[in-house]
Amino acid sequence: MARKARVATGGSLDPEAAPELIPAWRERIQTQLVGWYAEVARDLPWRDDRDPYRILVSETMLVQTTVKAVIPFFSRFLDRFPTVEVLAAADEAEVVKAWEGLGYYRRARQLHRAAQVIVSKHQGKVPDDPAALLALPGVGRYIAGAILSFAFDRPAPIVEANTQRVLARWLAWDEPIRTSKSQARFWEAAGRIVPEVNPGTFNQAFMELGALVCLPRNPLCLACPVAADCGARILGRQDALPVVADRPAPLEVAEACVVAIDAGRVLVVKRGPGVLWEGFWEFPTIHLAGPDPARRSFGVSVALDEGVRRITGVSTSVGPTATTLKFGVTKHRVTLAIHLARSLSGDPDPAPGHVEAKWASLNELAALTMGSATRRVVAWLGKSGGEGHRS
Ligand code: ADE
Repeated sequence: MARKARVATGGSLDPEAAPELIPAWRERIQTQLVGWYAEVARDLPWRDDRDPYRILVSETMLVQTTVKAVIPFFSRFLDRFPTVEVLAAADEAEVVKAWEGLGYYRRARQLHRAAQVIVSKHQGKVPDDPAALLALPGVGRYIAGAILSFAFDRPAPIVEANTQRVLARWLAWDEPIRTSKSQARFWEAAGRIVPEVNPGTFNQAFMELGALVCLPRNPLCLACPVAADCGARILGRQDALPVVADRPAPLEVAEACVVAIDAGRVLVVKRGPGVLWEGFWEFPTIHLAGPDPARRSFGVSVALDEGVRRITGVSTSVGPTATTLKFGVTKHRVTLAIHLARSLSGDPDPAPGHVEAKWASLNELAALTMGSATRRVVAWLGKSGGEGHRS
């Protein structure tokens, strides 16, 4: 109680008050933050853009992805799909290809579908109505808040990775931040804090504070424009907050991927509709142990050459492990053994779950849509030149 009184009011008002209900606290936060932002804001390609389509693109890319990773994709994507009409009219495969390397490909498909809805239902104009925005595929409260505040000057709150950390500290919130109770509290507070005037600039400043100063570990309170009003700082708890529940340990998975080589070409398969990674090309991959994140399993353990034959119709002679890659997919940690193989006989004929199987030259691989693990295999192959395979 005493703690809330100090945070919220300097000890003079209702000790139970949430700080954001105190006008003086809110105004100090708003003014200090926007003033600080004017001095330090990073020059990011989507900053100061009021075009709601471009904001929809940038914020969709920024979900679960760092600013640094998004920057090269953003301008390239908009060069290719400069308007919502162009995006709506594109093939989904083309949109996913432009997204290649960003991950979470569902976002690309949803963005494409959202563009189609904007064209068919809203005359090509991104709606400025919260309910209509939230009805778009892939648009949740956060993206809707970004569009409403950045493009349409509406005082809509945003809660995302940066701002929820800042809020947890301002409010000295000591419950795990991802629970629905915590999220509800953060949305409530953010909704009360966002100003009527220039809400978009405030929201950008709010995120920037989380990105540059109110860091997950070792927050830079000495550089913080609102440290004097921060509950965690006042209590000396800035290093203990926010409370982030440990993520469960990743599930270990073992897979083998077989790079069959024949006359300078490699055997690749394309995943079919309704399976994970639909439309993506890969080397025939056999699940060996652990849960199957891509559901490739045959249900029984098969020898690698038998696996390749079942997936592609091609008989091969598979060599030993040439190298090993590790990567994370959602909650899985995959160890991928890469094998080189020699083709014996048979024409590519994809198994159910795959729509195409073919021999492709290394140059042709660049044009195919592939996940980043498969791209790493291609890069390795380019470097090693497939050395050591037994043809
Ligand atoms: N993270 C999510 N949206 C962002 C934005 N517009 N600027 C910087 N970081 C962000």
